Amino acid sequence: MLIAQLTDPHIRAKGERAYGIVDTATHLAAAVDFIAANLAHIDALMITGDLVDFGEPEEYAHFLEIVAPLAMPLLPIPGNHDRREAFADAVRKWVQLPGSGHLSFVRDVGPLRLVMLDSTVPGKPHGLMCADRLSWLDRALSAAADRPTIVALHHPPFVTGIQHMDVQNCGNADGLAEVLTNHPQVLTVVAGHVHRSVFTSFCGRPASIAPSPAHAVSLALCPDAPPTFHLEPPGLHLHRWQPDATQPFGRFVTHVVPIGTFPGPHPFFDASGKLIG
Ligand SMILES: [Fe+2]
Repeated sequence: MLIAQLTDPHIRAKGERAYGIVDTATHLAAAVDFIAANLAHIDALMITGDLVDFGEPEEYAHFLEIVAPLAMPLLPIPGNHDRREAFADAVRKWVQLPGSGHLSFVRDVGPLRLVMLDSTVPGKPHGLMCADRLSWLDRALSAAADRPTIVALHHPPFVTGIQHMDVQNCGNADGLAEVLTNHPQVLTVVAGHVHRSVFTSFCGRPASIAPSPAHAVSLALCPDAPPTFHLEPPGLHLHRWQPDATQPFGRFVTHVVPIGTFPGPHPFFDASGKLIG
């Protein structure tokens, strides 16, 4: 099973650039072209928040226009730049969402369960695992205890060392960890928000943050570094699951995938099977 993760495209209204600099629409269009050309066979594409920059309906219309060529199931959750009502209106054709409150949902894909967990707090940059969401999560996991599961959310429930982002990560991470402790089928926790490829563990499970198809939050690990961004190579994550005799729920391997066109493929071996010297 192949589950791709795109995050934080930050689409603006047509003709506008994020922060006056980043042409996020062109970046997302390049990601869509890349996915259509190289990853058309994936089982689902998770989009882990900040679909747009200011939560405006015209931004969502622009976003939908750009991703229209993608034919695989698209599974979006909001980020802090999204606004729940406009977000829900935009993505309702792809997913069934609750009429009010947090916009979390579950999608089963093959043998897997993808838990798309809305971590946002309306009007705030940080996230939060409130009691309501945690009980929803516990029910979603209890209902399919035998399914290998990904939990996806926008705000990472762990710090990265980039201080200005760490102060706006997912609040009540301890509560989230407490729920996951009871559900060993959750194999990995994946997030966005930091616009960088980051790996750690959370509650004893592999955990990661995917990069953006547009701008990256600068790798500024000094305390009090100002909030800045760089135009680094854009990317996405590809989470591949397969059964594994050594692990009861199988194994995910996460590939970091740069978006672009690159020279290749070049063979390692010649026609006789000899390593090319
Ligand atoms: Fe973002």
